[in-house]
Amino acid sequence: MNKPFSLACKNNQQPILTELLRILRHCKTVLEIGSGTGQHAVWFAPNLPWLRWQPSDLSDKQVGLLQWLDDVPSKNLQRPIVLDVMAEWPSRKYDAVYSANTTHILPWEGVEALMTGAFEILNPKGILCLYGPFKSGHKALEPSNLNFDLSLKSTSVHRGLREIEALDGLAKKIDLLMLDDLKMPSHNRLLIWQKTS
Ligand SMILES: C[S@@+](CC[C@H](N)C(=O)[O-])C[C@H]1O[C@@H](n2cnc3c(N)ncnc32)[C@H](O)[C@@H]1O
Repeated sequence: MNKPFSLACKNNQQPILTELLRILRHCKTVLEIGSGTGQHAVWFAPNLPWLRWQPSDLSDKQVGLLQWLDDVPSKNLQRPIVLDVMAEWPSRKYDAVYSANTTHILPWEGVEALMTGAFEILNPKGILCLYGPFKSGHKALEPSNLNFDLSLKSTSVHRGLREIEALDGLAKKIDLLMLDDLKMPSHNRLLIWQKTS
C-alpha cells in the first residue's frame, strides 16, 4: 500500500526544522497534534535527537502514520497515539506541543480545545508551536491564502484561516504568552507561545 504523501510537508519541513532547532533546544518531550501523514514527525525526530517526539492524530490516520514511522524509524520517535483534541487528552505532561495546519481544519471549538488542552498538558514554561497559514486582522490575505480560505469554507462553514489576534486572545485568557510570530515561506507563519505559570 502506498504511503500517504503531502507535498506541502516535503516543502516546509526544512524551513520549520530550522526554527524548531532553536525554539525546542531546551525541550525534552514534544507532543504533535494532528500529525497527518507523519512526514513532519519522521523528519523532525532524528534532527532533534535530544528530545522525544510523540505523534498523534485521529484514529483514521493511524495506519498511514504507522507506514511512515515503520519505513523511517528513529530512536526518539514514539509510536503514534490517538488524540482527538475535542475528546480526552493523555495525562502525561510535555515540554512542547507542536501542531501544523490544524487550526483551519478544526471548528473554532476545536481550536479552543487545542489551545486549552495544550496549556493543560504543558509543563511549566512549556512551548506551544502552531504552524500554518493565518489571517492577521489588519492585513488583506495574499491571493493564495484567500483562495485557500474560500475553498476551506466551501467544504465546511466551520473551517477557515484563523486570525492570529483571535488565537492570541484565547492564549492570553489561559496564560500563554506569545513569544514569536515568524514569517515562513509560502505565506505561512510559525506562532510560538509559552506557558507563563
Ligand atoms: C491539514 S491536516 C495537517 C496534517 C499535518 N500536520 C500537516 O501539516 O500536513 C489536519 C490534520 O488534523 C487532524 N485533525 C482533524 N480534526 C482533529 C481533531 N479533532 N483532533 C486531532 N486532530 C485532528 C486531521 O486528521 C489531519 O491529520
